Amino acid sequence: MPAFDWVRLSTRRLLLRPLRVADAPFVLALFTDAGFMKFGTTAPFASNDEADALVARDIKAMAAGERIRLGIERVADGSLIGICTLFDLDAQSRKAEIGYGLLTQAWGQGYMHEALRALLEYGFSELGLNRVEAEIDPDNSGSARSLQRLGFVREGQLRESCIVNGVVSDSALYGLLRREWTARETSVSNA
Ligand SMILES: CC(C)(COP(=O)(O)OP(=O)(O)OC[C@H]1O[C@@H](n2cnc3c(N)ncnc32)[C@H](O)[C@@H]1OP(=O)(O)O)[C@@H](O)C(=O)NCCC(=O)NCCS
Repeated sequence: MPAFDWVRLSTRRLLLRPLRVADAPFVLALFTDAGFMKFGTTAPFASNDEADALVARDIKAMAAGERIRLGIERVADGSLIGICTLFDLDAQSRKAEIGYGLLTQAWGQGYMHEALRALLEYGFSELGLNRVEAEIDPDNSGSARSLQRLGFVREGQLRESCIVNGVVSDSALYGLLRREWTARETSVSNA
C-alpha cells in the first residue's frame, strides 16, 4: 500500500487528517473517555507516555502504508473530536477493517457518519477496496447503528473471538461491499 501520511479528507464540517505529535493530549483525552473506552479492547491510558507512543507508532505506520488512521477535526473550532481507521489492509483480497470512535461530548450530531462516508469513499475509490468489514461488541448498539446507517450488513457472530482482561466475548461481524457502496452513494446523490 502507498504511504498515507499525506492524506487529507474534507467534508462539510470536518477535516480528516493524520495525527501529529502535538495531538497527544487529545489522544490521552480520547483513551480515557469512558464512552469511547466502554467497548474498547485496551485499558484506559494511564499516562502521557502512552498517548505519545500511539502517535509515534501511527506516524511510522502511516508513512509505511500499513494502516490509515485519521484524526477527525471539527472545522468550526479546529478541535479534534475522534478518530477513524482502515487497518488490516489486505492487498490481494482488496479488503480492510474499519474502526472509529468519538469523544462522548461529540456523539449524536452525525459527525461520525460524515467522517466514515469520506473514509469509505477513499477506501473504495482511491484504494480500490472491494470489501470493508467491522467487528464490534454485539452489545454496542450505537456502533451497530453507525454501520447500518452506512449500509453495512450484519453477516454473523464470531464466537468467543475477543478476550479483554480475561473476559471472553463474541463479536458481531459486519461487511460492506464496493458494489453496495457505489449503488447506495449513487442513489443518495440522485435523491
Ligand atoms: C460509535 C459512535 C462513533 C457513534 O456515535 P454517534 O454520535 O451515534 O454517530 P454519529 O456521529 O454518526 O451521529 C449519529 C447520531 O446523531 C444524530 N444526528 C444528529 N444530527 C445529525 C446530523 N446532522 N446528521 C446525521 N446524524 C445526526 C443521528 O440521529 C444519530 O443518532 P441515533 O443513532 O440516536 O439516531 C460512538 O458511539 C462512539 O464513539 N462509541 C465508542 C467507540 C466505539 O464503540 N467504536 C466502535 C467500535 S470500532
